[in-house]
Amino acid sequence: MPYVKVTDLAFGRLQSPSLDEAEEFLTKFGMHRAERTKDALYMRGTDPNHHIHVTHLGPSKFVGLCFFVDNEDQLKQFAKAPGASGIENIDEPGGGKRVRISDPHGYQMEVMCGMQQLAPLPVRKAIVNTGDNKLRRAGELMRLPAGPSQVKRAAHAVIMTPNAKEKIKWYREMFGLICSDEVYAGDKENVIASFNRVDRGETYVDHHTFLCIDGPNVGLNHLSFEAQDIDDIMIGHQHLRKGDQYKHVWGIGRHVLGSQVYDYWQDPWGRVHEHWSDSDVLNIHAPTNYLPAEEGLNSQWGEAVPEAFITHASP
Ligand SMILES: [Fe+2]
Repeated sequence: MPYVKVTDLAFGRLQSPSLDEAEEFLTKFGMHRAERTKDALYMRGTDPNHHIHVTHLGPSKFVGLCFFVDNEDQLKQFAKAPGASGIENIDEPGGGKRVRISDPHGYQMEVMCGMQQLAPLPVRKAIVNTGDNKLRRAGELMRLPAGPSQVKRAAHAVIMTPNAKEKIKWYREMFGLICSDEVYAGDKENVIASFNRVDRGETYVDHHTFLCIDGPNVGLNHLSFEAQDIDDIMIGHQHLRKGDQYKHVWGIGRHVLGSQVYDYWQDPWGRVHEHWSDSDVLNIHAPTNYLPAEEGLNSQWGEAVPEAFITHASP
């Protein structure tokens, strides 16, 4: 039995040498400043969560991840896990309570509840006249303004590690994750990626919230954020292309596993941030699938996964 069943990814914590440069990138990526202190930056999406991304001032580093649970009883339950802290009041903007634990790689994992909720931000929606629904925008012209993507929420995180097949077990046991898909190379035992979702019973959730992918290095492979819609991914891509300031990693395409339309960018310190829209959603009843790499890590459309992406880890 898992210690708790987390309900979603809350945010990732990074450490960066410049909060100004971090804020500039994240703003161009489509987030908004929720709060900034002298040594930390809290960025939000259009959904009500106070923040979905935290940057601490310091040398470039992946600090860890925070997941939501429903209530304090769940925190009490999680505090019983070996190595877990007691319940702490979070002394940061957005508040709430948490329990902390070190993962097998030494990264800080947090489980929290009670984050401050803000008024949602207004969202530009693209209404499309396609397929059997040619009249959704009857009589109205589509005019989508240029600008950053509209990031809604934190969606998933991926950690690279040697022996991912074994390493993922700790996260499943701690956070109650369910395996959606496992991808192998050659031999079926040689698992190179494990896609896991949260367990909310009958409720449908994103195809994946946390992954371990196999690689020679340990670190964050990427943090991923849901954007408003497919037009929004395209608009955000054009915006980030401007001025050649940031490095594009992979996309735009549509994944096989999860089926999202994706686009990946590096921040100024090489940490990969993904935009996606339109995920498969599954509930408790979906079985685990096992697929060869050629199938699972391919795209339904778009370029093949670049080597630089599947070997990337930000320690
Ligand atoms: Fe992703």
